[in-house]
Amino acid sequence: MQTVHTIAELRTVIAKQKAAGKTIGFAPTMGNLHEGHITLIREGHKHADFMVSSIFVNPTQFGEGEDFDAYPRTLEADSTKLEAAGCNCLFAPSADEMYPAETSTWASVQVHNITHRHCGADRPGHFDGVSTVVTKLFNIVTPDVALFGKKDFQQLAVIRRMTKALCFNTEIIGVETVREESGLAMSSRNGFLTVEEKDKASTLYQQLCAAKEKVLQGNTEFEQITNEARSTLTDAGFGAGYFTVCNASSLEPATKNDSSLVILATAQMGGARLIDNIDFERSQ
Ligand code: PAJ
Repeated sequence: MQTVHTIAELRTVIAKQKAAGKTIGFAPTMGNLHEGHITLIREGHKHADFMVSSIFVNPTQFGEGEDFDAYPRTLEADSTKLEAAGCNCLFAPSADEMYPAETSTWASVQVHNITHRHCGADRPGHFDGVSTVVTKLFNIVTPDVALFGKKDFQQLAVIRRMTKALCFNTEIIGVETVREESGLAMSSRNGFLTVEEKDKASTLYQQLCAAKEKVLQGNTEFEQITNEARSTLTDAGFGAGYFTVCNASSLEPATKNDSSLVILATAQMGGARLIDNIDFERSQ
């Protein structure tokens, strides 16, 4: 695996692969890699010849008081994992490389309509930071396919819309969430949990599954279903968050007529903001 730190070097690597007729796959990350990230690389190889991954803790998607400084930076261990997964090239730029002081305030990318709810409401400006950095990365890597986890369901929806609206010539592939045996979605932030908190944290996925079952059994009292889940989460020691049954495409609160649904949830557990979801089809 080649590791490059500058945009110019990466462009040279990509140009060489394209000239040899290879297709490019891309999985952007912020590092501290776990099996969820690694799955993106493995899945990518099914769709592209040459897999590129990036590790960049993107400052513009963190709000004031969020965990940007504490975010785990483990480049060496990550590099070993990527190499073992068959990643062909790692791009690990500095903040100055991605946001040179001169141009950093010149432009940003904003996706409308689906960014004002859920994580967008809890973390103002977060999705602008994500869409801006992913736009920059897409323009550098020019991937044929790019892979994103369904664990960050709203992020995947934002990227899909951005790609379509801004005419990127990239196919977006959503990859199923990889979980611990307990059901807890793997996350770089799980390392902030104590053993006891990690044990309790699996309640989030259990509540998503329980809520999905209620809906599949024909219960359309979504408000009541989510209130019950929220109260169970509070009893289990979770802090503030949201738990909402939504239309899987618009991410607006679901109506009784919607058949493609997703339940989006986030909740604070100890020092970690956990995020998870479950998507499913409901017959009318
Ligand atoms: P990060 O949180 O590092 O996640 C990188 C990618 O891995 C995302 O597409 C995320 O959805 C996916 N992922 C994380 N945990 C997963 C799991 N348990 N199962 C499957 N996929 C999982 O998301 C970001 O970084 C950033 O916002 C980024 C897109 C890189 C832009 O900065």
